[in-house]
Amino acid sequence: SVVDGVRTFDLTAQSGTSEFLPGVETPTWGFDGPYLGPTLRAERGERVAVRVTNELDEATSVHWHGMHLPPAMDGGPHQPVAPGQTWEPTWEIDQPAATLWYHPHPHGATEEHVYRGLAGLFLLDDDASRAAVLPSEYGVDDVPVVVQDKVFDDAGRLELQHDGGEPGTLGDTVMTNGTVGAYHEVTTERVRLRLLNGSTARTYAFGFADRPFDLVATDGGLLDAPVRLDEVRLAPGERAEIVVALEPGEVTRLRSADPDLGGIAASFAMGGNDAFDVLELRAGEDLAPSPAPSWGRSRHADDGELRAEDAATVRSFELAEREINGERMDMGRVDEVVTVGDTEVWEVRNAHPVPHSFHVHDVQFRILTVDGREPPPQLAGPKDTVYLEPHRTYRLLMRFEDYTDAEVPYMYHCHMLLHEDEGMMGQFLVV
Ligand code: C2O
Ligand code: CU
Ligand code: CU
Repeated sequence: SVVDGVRTFDLTAQSGTSEFLPGVETPTWGFDGPYLGPTLRAERGERVAVRVTNELDEATSVHWHGMHLPPAMDGGPHQPVAPGQTWEPTWEIDQPAATLWYHPHPHGATEEHVYRGLAGLFLLDDDASRAAVLPSEYGVDDVPVVVQDKVFDDAGRLELQHDGGEPGTLGDTVMTNGTVGAYHEVTTERVRLRLLNGSTARTYAFGFADRPFDLVATDGGLLDAPVRLDEVRLAPGERAEIVVALEPGEVTRLRSADPDLGGIAASFAMGGNDAFDVLELRAGEDLAPSPAPSWGRSRHADDGELRAEDAATVRSFELAEREINGERMDMGRVDEVVTVGDTEVWEVRNAHPVPHSFHVHDVQFRILTVDGREPPPQLAGPKDTVYLEPHRTYRLLMRFEDYTDAEVPYMYHCHMLLHEDEGMMGQFLVV
């Protein structure tokens, strides 16, 4: 609701049970319900205020993944919400339309909190997204697709596997929006799917066996133009918006098959040869017309282009084992200090033979190069999280704007959540 011009939301973290498997009650956590949370939505230029209440027995937090906002509102490990307490962040939406999400970020326990079900989408709209030719009726032809893999034990409880396996728990059951065997009844010639890899460890390659699709947006918003693809790889935390066309009466399946994890010898042990159906699309006999996606300029006049020649600083980050630059996360240590307004290049290297993903709070970055070469089109748009193939170096261009705080840091980390919890995270101040 909107109160005095401020868009307000209430979110309550709570425990409950969910029937994922027929006749089995699985203990789960959710926001405002037993599993996952409501899709929040706001406009560029709006002020939002959220009342986050914690009804769990332990502290949690709620981080606004992909959002440009002050560090004290970010919901990271420095903004815990104790049991029974309410936290009330507020900020102004000042970034392009995008599919963002929210999830807990408590120090050392993020994997468990997300795995039990605490996550939701946060959609942003702006003039460009409203003017774009894109399917946009939420739940009808604009459909959230939150993908998570799970392991159930014999009693139907969600199980995390901490047996030293990489890259963390790989589930044998895939759920979409909290449903095993999900389907959607299609009533239009095209559907837009807002894909979120909400898994804790697994990387997917989403596509259809029988048709290509148009990639229209990545983590931080619309691409310059749609890109026709057969599959899009998403690591934990990454998003993509795709538009797919169906004929009357057709049935097709969004799936993930044999993700290319990037030259890993034992990639089968990391999910590199797994295949899952994610969402069945069932088209009706009468489909409403739906034109091919198109839009003009997706950028706002005051967004300014990110230009590599403006980068005054290059910082290097090397990821290996559970460390970044040889250090594990320390809540009391500031790793980097950035000057507000600066454009920087972050050169991120996966120096380890297993998958990692790299996420930076507060900004959307552009990938300049992957091992010195131009990135593929699916990595050319606005991003806040990127899958790091083993032994490759990614140059990321970003600018830190508006918000300074001499005490409260933002985070950067691996978004494989076991890795994050075990210390693959660092902190930066913007001053
Ligand atoms: Cu999606 Cu620091 O997190
Ligand atoms: Cu984040
Ligand atoms: Cu990692």
